[in-house]
Amino acid sequence: MTHPRPAAVVVLAAGEGTRMRSATPKVLHALAGRTMLGHALAAGRALDPQRLAVVVRHERDRVAAHALELDPQALIADQDDVPGTGRAVQCALGVLDAAVHAASAHDGHDADQVEGAVVVLAGDIPLLDGDTLAELLAAHVADGNAVTVLTTEVADPTGYGRVLREPGTGEVLGVVEHKDADDEQRAVREINSSVYVFDAAVLRGAFGRLGRDNAQGEVYLTDVLAIARSDGGAVRALRVDDPVLVEGVNDRVQLATLGAEMNRRIVADWMLAGVTVVDPATTWVDADVELEQDVTLLPGTQLHGRTRVAAGAVVGPDSTLTDVVVEAGAHVVRSHATQARIGAQAVVGPFSYLRPGTSLGADGKIGAFVETKNATIGDHSKVPHLSYVGDAEIGEHTNIGAATIFVNYDGVTKHRTTIGSHVRIGSDNALVAPVTIGDGAYTGAGSVIRRDVHPGALGINTAPQRTIDRWVLRRRPGTPSAEAAAAALGDEDEAPLSPQARAELARAQEAGPPSDPRDPSAPSTEGR
Ligand code: UD1
Ligand code: MG
Repeated sequence: MTHPRPAAVVVLAAGEGTRMRSATPKVLHALAGRTMLGHALAAGRALDPQRLAVVVRHERDRVAAHALELDPQALIADQDDVPGTGRAVQCALGVLDAAVHAASAHDGHDADQVEGAVVVLAGDIPLLDGDTLAELLAAHVADGNAVTVLTTEVADPTGYGRVLREPGTGEVLGVVEHKDADDEQRAVREINSSVYVFDAAVLRGAFGRLGRDNAQGEVYLTDVLAIARSDGGAVRALRVDDPVLVEGVNDRVQLATLGAEMNRRIVADWMLAGVTVVDPATTWVDADVELEQDVTLLPGTQLHGRTRVAAGAVVGPDSTLTDVVVEAGAHVVRSHATQARIGAQAVVGPFSYLRPGTSLGADGKIGAFVETKNATIGDHSKVPHLSYVGDAEIGEHTNIGAATIFVNYDGVTKHRTTIGSHVRIGSDNALVAPVTIGDGAYTGAGSVIRRDVHPGALGINTAPQRTIDRWVLRRRPGTPSAEAAAAALGDEDEAPLSPQARAELARAQEAGPPSDPRDPSAPSTEGR
């Protein structure tokens, strides 16, 4: 929708939000991966205002820092001791006027205050979108209004300010707060959303006349409506049919309700854009996530932050991805990933844990019970089972055997492991970093690789295996194992030891007796 550019947007974020019962200020509580303030800033910015101000007071530094992080161009307006939404806007206008004055002095012009449309919105209306704001602004400008207020009709208006209209004409007379309203006024179901467009001069003219003579002892912004009307200005309302768009959050029940509703809408929009969502009720997609056509999301999938999923990829069931890029055609099954990239046609899971800095190449695999961190795994390379890959660079077409650990930490410092292409790491290796394994090299199963393995070499450092014949028959007589062994060897009664077995046994005894003959770990002195 095309719309005029407003002179300013003011976001009200100075209140505490007592009913949240939280150490975190209300506007910093999040839904769909964004704080409420984040949603308000996004809606406000969508209008492309000349200036945008955020009014702060409660937990001032936290709220201001968050606002500036999301919107470095925002102006921060500090509200003083005087409470109320009217005072909040007055403080904002002061900061905006100062900014206009400074800019015009710089340009050699002579404007010293904001002129034209000032859009005001509360910071706790998360589903308010740019389109609705643009519609409000367009109506305001087209009708030449002094004030245009966004309203809606709700089933239960308790707590909201009620919109008062002239009986015959339906003209807007003003807004009365719930606490100040009489029974007849409380019966009105049309409510003030706390979203408005004001003419700047109308605001300025009204501020001096706002009192605090009301149930809450506050300077009400809502009083500007009646004042503007008495001054002969046009005060009109734009009524939206969908109350959810303007519902405010005052407690955590409303936060969850609106969070679920926002998610329902986000997921529905993606389905209409060509994404298959098997179970919308258990699929959670944050506002900043991007999905391409023919992505499939299976039940229990949560996509957070700036996650992007490319065409034809399948995520789920039961997967949580935060700031992850999933390339086309990849599959992610029952996995948890953060700040990772998953290449085209690659397979992740089930039960994989991808930590920040993981990059899996095209057609690669990170399989069951594998944890990765700061690891680049090349195209067609696979880490299929039960491994930890940390601080590593792996080339292409390389296979990491099951149960391999990249030993990256010496107790003080993290070190890197570099593995070339077409490498075969045997099962149950410990690769002690820093270490480099060249292209085309192999390592033997069970190796602890502490030194570099050259291209094409075999790295192996396991001790030779010793086999002590009849050890179980002699040392574990009467156990099911001994019986099974006897049956397999064809002896019903215990057969005598071979001379070789006797020698082996003697050597083993010399090396130290097993501490407890029933201890199953006793043969460990035989080496692995
Ligand atoms: C306000 C409106 C009410 C409307 C309702 C919609 C007034 C007087 N009342 O009431 O008509 O139906 O919103 O949700 O405006 N804030 C400040 N400074 C303050 C007080 C509040 O910046 O001194 C900010 C809050 O952070 C919040 C917003 O203004 O973002 C609304 O404040 P809140 O206390 O929730 O107002 P309501 O009582 O809900
Ligand atoms: Mg409120």
